[in-house]
Amino acid sequence: MKRRAFLGSTILGLSATTLVPARASAPEFSRNPFTLGVASGDVTDNSAVLWTRLAPEPLQADGGMDSSGVLVNWEIALDPAMSRIVQRGESVASSELAHSVHVELENLNANQEYWYRFSTTSQHSQIGRTKTLPDTKSQLQSLRFVTASCQNYSHGYFVAYEHMVKDKPDFVIHLGDYIYDTSFGATFRKHETEKRPETLDEFRRRHALYKTDEHLQHAHAQIPFFTTIDNHDAIEDKDPDKAAQRIAAYQAWYEHMPVRGFVGPGANRFDLLRKIQLGNLAQISLLDARQFRDKKDLCRDSMDSKFGFGNYRERCKEIIKDERSMLGKEQESWLINNLQNNSTSWNVIASPGPFLPFHFQHGGKDLRYIGAWDAYPANRKRIAEVVAQSSSGHPLILSGDVHSFWALDGSLTRDPDERIPVVEFVTSSISANWPEPLNKPVMDNLNNNPQVKFYEGERRGYLLHEVNKTEWKTTARAMQDVKDNQSRAFDAANFLVRKGESGFTQTS
Ligand SMILES: [Fe+2]
Repeated sequence: MKRRAFLGSTILGLSATTLVPARASAPEFSRNPFTLGVASGDVTDNSAVLWTRLAPEPLQADGGMDSSGVLVNWEIALDPAMSRIVQRGESVASSELAHSVHVELENLNANQEYWYRFSTTSQHSQIGRTKTLPDTKSQLQSLRFVTASCQNYSHGYFVAYEHMVKDKPDFVIHLGDYIYDTSFGATFRKHETEKRPETLDEFRRRHALYKTDEHLQHAHAQIPFFTTIDNHDAIEDKDPDKAAQRIAAYQAWYEHMPVRGFVGPGANRFDLLRKIQLGNLAQISLLDARQFRDKKDLCRDSMDSKFGFGNYRERCKEIIKDERSMLGKEQESWLINNLQNNSTSWNVIASPGPFLPFHFQHGGKDLRYIGAWDAYPANRKRIAEVVAQSSSGHPLILSGDVHSFWALDGSLTRDPDERIPVVEFVTSSISANWPEPLNKPVMDNLNNNPQVKFYEGERRGYLLHEVNKTEWKTTARAMQDVKDNQSRAFDAANFLVRKGESGFTQTS
């Protein structure tokens, strides 16, 4: 690599690379360093994060880069030909952050499309597109967005993203399990290693592999993302023995994601909470359901490892304790404040895991899934009471995690004590399997759970939401076969919620 040396680290324009080395260079790359694509995310009505990472050898832990910092130019424009440039600047891609670049743009126009690209001395990235959110005071007529989750590389192609791009959503909310730490034995296409990532280098390789998927790259280059973390992105809960692994997972996640909120190398936390304000139409509270939750692996006496892989348990006394929390005190207050002080039409909670209850009758016992809100009933009840009492916007819940499509009307739950007057739409996975030991217990128990008005466990895909002031339409966009890189998509179901009316109707 030929290098031109640059003294100092002057940054023109706006940049947010956390670590800026004293010296940075502008090497000539013989191979394209932009192999992992470009992305944008964490958009507001006047800001956005742009991302790329220099990695001429993407599957090597160092990406084929040495330890020097590299100057990267970026520019944003009002047109896809990049002729009407409105901001430009330089960032330093440092080896401490895997030569990733995060540009935190400010002073953007609301509800505006922008195009952007990165450059080194000799190479340009592809041109990406992003879009800011509407002004919080704007009288927006409608918008559309997607919820997605759970993409296991070894289970199938991320072809759902190709259909998502065609749907032209304003943004995507990814509800977690962006990477998988394990293939669960599937070998359709292999992870770079079967070993579960533990070190920073191992997480970097796993993330880079995922980012080489052409469909995922295409979506990132066309649509801004909001993302949160679930159990396969980083280590579960708060196990102190796994702190180093979790710290490594957070850092690698940041290095590959168009996000803010990285506290710094070595930090055992990540600022994930997002209040997404969509003009006067909707407010979405995107939750962090991993960093603050109390331990979930309780009530093991009722565990049957042959039933739902041991994920379904009876409610022993530890589960039903009043002080038990999914969100932690601070996040719970933040959420309640959001729910009570919303001035838009729709008051939305986006949760990685399902919110409403589901009963598994098994061996004469009432079992519940311990991976989501059914294992935190007291915390859920506190939020449900706020939802029931609040008059600030029509409440709605969007979730994922369970690799299957669900549409639920919480007012139909049989037990009055668990009845919550809210609709929930659960997205299926982008590619992760929903095997028969998980599908069958749900199918066998649908009759016990009248709140579930729609369930589809066979298909992968995502949910497309089209929103105006009075109607919320959700479409379950299902893939024919995620083992086909060109798979067709079809609508598995369409749902309509009318503002101010209880429940929803399935329109097709
Ligand atoms: Fe998942």
